[in-house]
Amino acid sequence: MAEPILQVRGLVKHYPLTQGILFRKQVGAVKAVDGVDLELGRGETLGVVGESGCGKSTLARLLVSLERPTEGSILFKGEDVTRLSGRALKAVRRNIQMVFQDPYTSLNPRMTVGDIIGEPFDIHPEVAPKGDRRRKVQELLDVVGLNPEYVNRYPHQFSGGQRQRIGIARGLALRPEVIVADEPVSALDVSVQAQVINLLDRLQGEFGLSYVFIAHDLSIVRHISDRVGVMYLGRIVEIGSDEEIYDHPTHPYTQALLSAVPVPDPEARRHRERIILTGDVPSPANPPSGCRFRTRCWKARERCALEVPLLAVPAAFRYAEGPAAHDSACHFAEEKQVVPPEGGTGPGAPPAKGDPGPGEPPAEGGGATRLT
Ligand SMILES: Nc1ncnc2c1ncn2[C@@H]1O[C@H](COP(=O)(O)OP(=O)(O)OP(=O)(O)O)[C@@H](O)[C@H]1O
Ligand code: SF4
Ligand SMILES: [Mg+2]
Repeated sequence: MAEPILQVRGLVKHYPLTQGILFRKQVGAVKAVDGVDLELGRGETLGVVGESGCGKSTLARLLVSLERPTEGSILFKGEDVTRLSGRALKAVRRNIQMVFQDPYTSLNPRMTVGDIIGEPFDIHPEVAPKGDRRRKVQELLDVVGLNPEYVNRYPHQFSGGQRQRIGIARGLALRPEVIVADEPVSALDVSVQAQVINLLDRLQGEFGLSYVFIAHDLSIVRHISDRVGVMYLGRIVEIGSDEEIYDHPTHPYTQALLSAVPVPDPEARRHRERIILTGDVPSPANPPSGCRFRTRCWKARERCALEVPLLAVPAAFRYAEGPAAHDSACHFAEEKQVVPPEGGTGPGAPPAKGDPGPGEPPAEGGGATRLT
């Protein structure tokens, strides 16, 4: 991995659960993020994937300092952001920006596009002095593929894909080094998802950006990520390179998620094994003891209830070379190829990372399996 730009250690965010009207008493906590470790290399894209409610957006808000963690550290170029305040925090926040999921609700309908994109300059006037703002905003519109003449239009005058381009322009305004994109294409039509992903890919090369790309759609994440982390109930359960996670998964949860990914090639689809998970996701206020996945895991044994599996290379692969030897939090990790290797890369699929493809829509089924 390239030199790390972000290092996350033991990150925890608990939201207190209270009872009572006059005397509010804490009766528990929603453990939205509960011990996350990860690293983001400079210029890298880390995909983070998991079902609804597993803590992805909470993790995103912590990474961009919109919220303070309950515990843990976030190092940006070696400096712990969670300990900063005032001017030092403001300087780091400028460098780690967020792109939000829903372009329909995240843009203020009463503001012009120019004001929306230029708003971050109010907080950081040093980036664009007042007289220079309009030009800067028009430059940003051009960079994201919108007509610079649209600067005085309102969000409702744009399509969903164009609005997400506006959201991306706003994220770029302060020239950040890291962008945390929280499901940036989930609310978009399948036909425009690939265009927005291509745009993000191009901007990464142009501006030397590092991305954390959050999704619950494993097929979308594959085509933009260098590495992928799979989240379950507030924790990362498996993390590795694109090839390690998609072609050599060792955690049962990743294997189940992969078995739901659309496979464009009918022949490969016939050989793909479907793993249907039973039972609901447990409440993050009361996660199962030991391995959190054990209530839905077909391989669970007694040890799984007693011992928390650590995110590390499992003992079975520790001395082995090869793609199965990557971090996986399972006591009984086993390699299982769920999707045939060519799956998801057939004709019509979204272009692979670095491929400046024409922006055609994703393949069959749109690659839009919602894991909810
Ligand atoms: N401000 C908050 N106060 C209390 N609980 C919260 C708060 N924000 C999130 N949660 C809870 O934390 C858990 C994780 O939520 P989060 O939004 O991070 O999940 P997510 O993975 O982004 O889900 P989705 O895919 O639906 O966006 C959920 O149970 C949610 O209800
Ligand atoms: S530790 Fe046990 S319950 Fe958890 S994923 Fe592995 S086998 Fe399943
Ligand atoms: Mg979310």
